[in-house]
Amino acid sequence: MKKEKSIRKQFNIVLIALYLLSLLIIFPLVYYITVKEVHNNANKELSLLVDMVQSIRTYIRKDVRPELFRRGVLHPPAVSSTVATRHVAGHFRKLQPKYYIKTASDNPLNQENLPLALEQEILTYFRKNPDEKELTREGIIKGQHYLVSSRPSIAKANCNLCHEAPEKAPEQIVKTYGKESGYGYKIGDIVGISVVGVPLNNINIVSVKRGLMLAGLMTFLFTLAIIVINGLVKKKILHPLEELSNTAQAISRGELDKSVKVQGNDEMGRLAHSIELMRRSLQTVMERIRTKN
Ligand code: HEC
Repeated sequence: MKKEKSIRKQFNIVLIALYLLSLLIIFPLVYYITVKEVHNNANKELSLLVDMVQSIRTYIRKDVRPELFRRGVLHPPAVSSTVATRHVAGHFRKLQPKYYIKTASDNPLNQENLPLALEQEILTYFRKNPDEKELTREGIIKGQHYLVSSRPSIAKANCNLCHEAPEKAPEQIVKTYGKESGYGYKIGDIVGISVVGVPLNNINIVSVKRGLMLAGLMTFLFTLAIIVINGLVKKKILHPLEELSNTAQAISRGELDKSVKVQGNDEMGRLAHSIELMRRSLQTVMERIRTKN
């Protein structure tokens, strides 16, 4: 025997299939959008920070240093853009701890400026590719995922004032940093890198959170749709159909006196109206046959 099908069941199967399909699409889509968004935001922040650091350096080099040199002042935070940047970065980090600013070198005056693993990689990259002037990449610094932008620090003649040899460096520098490291710069050498980093939010966590929220919303909407559509199918199609089917059966049994109820102006109403017309014609025909006999 053929299995009986129901309109409602067929509607529900289609709706549930659509629901599952929407869930299947949501997660990859949300992941894709989140990756784009996180990177876009990080890139914007990064270029702001790079330009800020660059401006600090230019300010020291152009606006402050020449005048101080003329007066014979060698105070490093005022005449070295690297030192000035480090001081500004120190203050900045107190206000914005998630950003990363550093000048790293494997031959540093200040041991705190020794390169971390990622910074050493970048330093090596610049030494192997001396034509590269900037590098932007992702990486882990102290366990945090960052988007970093980096530029090489190249030794020039005026660096020698402090970095050539401890005997030639200002007393203040030797006193603070010692004689062991941070000297011996040769003009043209890549002596370090300037690194700026903005945190990359955890894309997986953000996408799963957003995906779950959207999936929840979808579940709610589809549940609502299933309830509403089932109610409508029952009220507008199944109920009237059952009534008409009973009426048609009654007519087939010869019960022709009860008129068919016509409700509404839709397809169901018109079908009911047609059956009512059919019933009346049958009634007339039957009456004629009866009177002839
Ligand atoms: C007036 C002195 C002075 C001059 C000139 C100077 N620096 Fe420095 N530099 C310093 C001091 C002091 C530090 C240590 C800053 C700190 O405590 O982090 C430093 C730090 C650095 C660092 C970070 C690693 C380290 O040594 O701690 C780099 C890289 C660097 N300088 C490169 C340069 C280059 C390139 C030039 C020339 C374009 C230059 N410096 C000119 C004083 C100077």
